[in-house]
Amino acid sequence: MPQTNPFHSLTPRKLTDSELARSIRLNIEAELDAINLYAAHLDATDNPEAKAILQHVMDEEREHAALFWQLIARLDPAQAQHDREASAKYQLITRGASHEAVEAVGEGGAPAEESNFPKRFTVGNLRP
Ligand SMILES: [Fe+2]
Repeated sequence: MPQTNPFHSLTPRKLTDSELARSIRLNIEAELDAINLYAAHLDATDNPEAKAILQHVMDEEREHAALFWQLIARLDPAQAQHDREASAKYQLITRGASHEAVEAVGEGGAPAEESNFPKRFTVGNLRP
């Protein structure tokens, strides 16, 4: 007997993009949960056939999560904006930038590519 009621989320109308984004976020959560479940099962067996199938299915779930994330970016403009800024912020954080420099991205601050942070001084910097 199925545990999930296939009719539990029926609505009397079509969803707005905002409502659909909320639903897709739940789908992403389910995909990530499945990845962790399959990873645990992979760790729990030495059966080569089972491991091959579990690995294949787990990779499919990774792809599903990635596709859903792309869909979220199209349904939720605010999320899409964060996605665009995340790469620059990631670079700044991992290079040791200040909190202010990181938060300046997207607030009119210089994009990471144009930022000169962090300045790395070398012997060449000391030459006139
Ligand atoms: Fe999936």
